[in-house]
Amino acid sequence: MSPSKEAWGSRMGVILAVAGSAVGLGNFLRFPGLAAQYGGGAFMIAYFTALLLIGIPIGWAEWTMGRSGGVRGYHSAPGIFHVVMQSPAGKYLGLLGFIIPVMVYMYYVYVEAWCLGYAYLAATGRLAAGANFGGIFAAYTGLAQDGSAVHFGLESVGLWLVLCYALNFFFIYRGISKGIELACKWGMPLLILIALIILGRVLTLGTPDPLKPDQNVLNGLGFMWNPKEVWAGLKNAEMWLAASGQIFFTLTVGFGAICCYASYLKKKDDVVLSALTAAAANEFCEVGLGGLITVPAAFVFLGTAGIVGMGTFGLGFNVLPAVFAQMPYGNFFAFGFFALLFLAAVTSSLSMLQPGVAFMEEGLGLARKPALALLGIVTAFGSMICWWFSKDLKALDTIDFWVGNVMIYLQGFILILVFSWSKGMGIERGWREAHEGAAVRIPRIFKFIMKWVSPVFLSIVLLMFVLSNVFGWNFSFADPRFAPTGRITDLVGDKHSDVARLTVAFVIVGLGFSALLMHLAGKRWTANPPEKQT
Ligand code: PHE
Repeated sequence: MSPSKEAWGSRMGVILAVAGSAVGLGNFLRFPGLAAQYGGGAFMIAYFTALLLIGIPIGWAEWTMGRSGGVRGYHSAPGIFHVVMQSPAGKYLGLLGFIIPVMVYMYYVYVEAWCLGYAYLAATGRLAAGANFGGIFAAYTGLAQDGSAVHFGLESVGLWLVLCYALNFFFIYRGISKGIELACKWGMPLLILIALIILGRVLTLGTPDPLKPDQNVLNGLGFMWNPKEVWAGLKNAEMWLAASGQIFFTLTVGFGAICCYASYLKKKDDVVLSALTAAAANEFCEVGLGGLITVPAAFVFLGTAGIVGMGTFGLGFNVLPAVFAQMPYGNFFAFGFFALLFLAAVTSSLSMLQPGVAFMEEGLGLARKPALALLGIVTAFGSMICWWFSKDLKALDTIDFWVGNVMIYLQGFILILVFSWSKGMGIERGWREAHEGAAVRIPRIFKFIMKWVSPVFLSIVLLMFVLSNVFGWNFSFADPRFAPTGRITDLVGDKHSDVARLTVAFVIVGLGFSALLMHLAGKRWTANPPEKQT
């Protein structure tokens, strides 16, 4: 095996690719949903705290370690950890950076297919015809019954799912600069353009129904952003969990995807400013675009009742189509919105596949085609679970929670510990490496943050997570109550859900299987280290 010769074509290219990975469904669906649920103000304080204390610092760590591993010939998290830590344990610590993106892909691509299918329904006017938005949503996603979404006509999800698979694998097959970079270079500006058009439309909606003067744009923005009971909100542990989770999810930090992308940089390429730029682009799209479109639009037409309790997916695929239908040129804007979601989703899902392919190539010695074939089969299997066991979106929701929430905390935690504390790296060396070729310097305070604050912050969040989910503590000392949440009762006890159990079993088998792959890769790397080859 020789070190990969793949590289980004330009600095702008890599920034757009990372921004493309970051800007996704999280920005336009997950974020508005969470912010509305937790009442704007308080959530934003927690959100920006998490951005500063974990998002940006761990992002820098990920970019730096990625570049460092890449220069030495490794492009997947396990390989990068293996060489950066100079220890055989490294590959196991990097295991999550391989399995998380692969598993997130399984359900993410399914939602990506809804977006594409909905764009088609909107463009052809079928979405608005009959005004049965809840019905279409249920039929499309299979909410009502397991297996009920498994159809292949133009008006159901199957065909679009296949198309999404084909597109994603096509771009990955073409490689870093001819595939991923190309897709993001076109996709990202287009996405922002569409978002600006839709935003312009939403902000000029005024008061569409004169009989309901309260339902105007300003109040819509207020519903999203006015701080409500900030202090009480800040004491809500759940909210801190949600805000930190959102920061990881939206920035793609802690998935193993950024370190993979950064590994295709050259030794002297800047990482500090690039990481910041990509994060800033993501925040612009999230707070500036995502935060101003979905919820205010829904509020203007439907009021509070249209938003509360709809859930993230309900908001995007059930409420918004109804909203667009009430606007002049509604089909056009609905099409724009779902095309925007789709573009955001593809540029993200590409970054979930690349780490997996990179690992199979360098860890198992597979050529790209067999690596892609294997990854295709494995991910298709997972997608089918989400697609078939669609009642209440149980499978999708379960895997999103355990992989897209719990595991990313863990991986983010491991990542910052390896960066700041491991023998092979450590904060001193890490700090120096980050600044190699850097276009700007990181403020010194971040050295302290990366070494102490981020790990402590994450430990607290993890602890709270266990206390709230597993033990179900209501975080009250005066009147403590313990009732494990649905996440746990789904799995144990007599109210368990078979689908949730099956999904978690699938995740556990995946973890075990990857541990085996790590073992094999480790043997390969010790016998024949890419860093020794030229
Ligand atoms: N950041 C993406 C979003 O906001 C999600 C994502 C997760 C992308 C994991 C890549 C890897 O939707």
